[in-house]
Amino acid sequence: MSSIAFTNIATLVTNDSSVGDGALGIVRNATVVSDDGVIVGITTGVPTGVDSLVDCTNKTLLPGFVDSHSHIIFAGDRSEEFALRSQGQKYTSGGIASTVAATRAATDSDLASNAQRLLDEALASGTTTMEIKSGYGLTEKDELRSLQVAKNFTEETTLLAAHVIPEEFRHDPDGYVDLIINSIIPQSQAKWIDVFCDEGAFNPDQTEAILRAGISHGLLPRIHANQLSSGKAVEIAIAVDAASADHLSKSTVRDIELLASSNTVATLLPGAEFSTHLEANLGRRFLDAGATVAIASDCNPGSSYTTSMPFCIAAAVSLLGFTVEEAVAAATIGGAKALRRSDIGSISVGKRADLVLLDAPSYIHLAYRPGVNLVHSTYKSGRAVTTWQK
Ligand code: NIG
Ligand code: FE
Repeated sequence: MSSIAFTNIATLVTNDSSVGDGALGIVRNATVVSDDGVIVGITTGVPTGVDSLVDCTNKTLLPGFVDSHSHIIFAGDRSEEFALRSQGQKYTSGGIASTVAATRAATDSDLASNAQRLLDEALASGTTTMEIKSGYGLTEKDELRSLQVAKNFTEETTLLAAHVIPEEFRHDPDGYVDLIINSIIPQSQAKWIDVFCDEGAFNPDQTEAILRAGISHGLLPRIHANQLSSGKAVEIAIAVDAASADHLSKSTVRDIELLASSNTVATLLPGAEFSTHLEANLGRRFLDAGATVAIASDCNPGSSYTTSMPFCIAAAVSLLGFTVEEAVAAATIGGAKALRRSDIGSISVGKRADLVLLDAPSYIHLAYRPGVNLVHSTYKSGRAVTTWQK
């Protein structure tokens, strides 16, 4: 492994207020040195004795984006469903069935190459960590092989067998819950357990039983909460100490207060708000309450078919009421907290050298220039990469 110095960085976002100004810990004209995949110095000038130099004049260096919520193990396309929403049709969980059918029919190598394509897109827009869920298999075999594909790409794998009740169990939903608890969870070896607790998905009792079964097998809980309706999901999230409650579009004032005084991150999904039912200013309500907030792509073929965290930052600012600084923090250190990771999400000595270099003089351009890919290069563990690998 070799050392690199990033020199003359016009704007460095450290997310470390002990190193730089404001909540983002901004340093101007800085130098960052990484060695053996880890940040070893934040300084000025051009150091000697490093293996390579990257001149960052007029550029911005940030922690790589941490995308803590994605559903990229799938096959098929639901563009028609998106078009119907543009004609006024509401988003429901009903469309998931068509992706389940396509996913079951796909080979492992189809699923892997689709995931690779989406991860390469994500990398090209600055994502360096991606959580990946199963959830479009909904049989023992298809959930386990979805996770197997995901494991080749990330440490952050999530079992979401509890996405919706599959057609075969329509008249016996608790039979499917039993299958998840007694068969799928024990074999899954995922890091995380997730449940879509909502209308048309899993009820609070089923949700809690599945999360607790996951926990007893060493999986860590996270949850899809209040996307389509408000219910008990936030209470359950806090009761099981979930790392994150995600979506939260229909949250009540009490849900927001509960999250703000908990250890559970509120993860908002600007791509889903954009593509389905917009809850304007959703972010402001959580931020003003003092919650720890993350944003993530939710990349999936139904409610949010984007891999771009810069797009999510721009949407968070213009649609959800975030300041630019809050959105950038939510997409980096916020995502790291939602994954309970302390080695990523900030640029300070000892952290992983997961970095994104922007061809722009300020991080503000991420929201100011929507739809333009400003990423010059992405570094994982101190290495410039153009193809996603674990
Ligand atoms: O997070 N809410 C549940 N699951 C996905 C959407 C799934 C789909 O529509 O295919 C989500 O938005
Ligand atoms: Fe989701």
